[in-house]
Amino acid sequence: MTTADRPPTRWALAGDGTSGYGRCFGRLVADGTDVDGEARLADSLLARGGRVLDLGSGMGRVAAALAARGHDVVATEPDEALRAQSRATYPDLEVLPHEALALDAEEVGRFDLVVAVGNVMVYLGEGTERAVLSHVRSLLAPGGRVLVGFHPRSGPAGARDYAPDELAEDARSSGLRVDHRFGSYELHPPADDYCVFVLSAAG
Ligand SMILES: C[S@@+](CC[C@H](N)C(=O)[O-])C[C@H]1O[C@@H](n2cnc3c(N)ncnc32)[C@H](O)[C@@H]1O
Repeated sequence: MTTADRPPTRWALAGDGTSGYGRCFGRLVADGTDVDGEARLADSLLARGGRVLDLGSGMGRVAAALAARGHDVVATEPDEALRAQSRATYPDLEVLPHEALALDAEEVGRFDLVVAVGNVMVYLGEGTERAVLSHVRSLLAPGGRVLVGFHPRSGPAGARDYAPDELAEDARSSGLRVDHRFGSYELHPPADDYCVFVLSAAG
């Protein structure tokens, strides 16, 4: 898929409908509320000092928490307002402006873990899910894994419904294997309202 063919992300299409995300997490971080659940699970999937890609890093909370745990984190976030919020909240965290399919392995390297949490998967451009998963696979270091988490239905404004079985099928078609599915970042059993997958390269 060339740059010209790429449809806009559902996040971009939702416009102001998504502004609550930045405000909400800004408030939670300012209040000292725990927003590190995704990062704790990601950390447990990594050896110390792992290379991590936070795809769709938003206001930066997950990438910053992983960097604070000693990992070498590359964060990327196409939404300019969220990059500005991320810079203001976590000044030490560098954030690339790249959309997933624009990430070049020669530029960013390969990763022990790619994190696409907090509903990134339900905000990708329409019809790009397999292309993004396949591209993510190409960015994995040997033994690398992918952590995704999203609301499969009735998610936030502008998000698509994405049944867990469809995600699993898309992952398989993209050269990834489903290692685990959970219902939360605290590893509850698979549930209807949230799904967390750990994926790795097949074969
Ligand atoms: C709800 S926010 C989650 C942000 C962050 N991961 C978190 O959990 O706090 C969803 C993010 O997905 C990003 N996104 C959607 N499609 C993307 C794509 N194709 N490449 C990179 N990021 C994307 C959006 O820009 C948005 O910041």
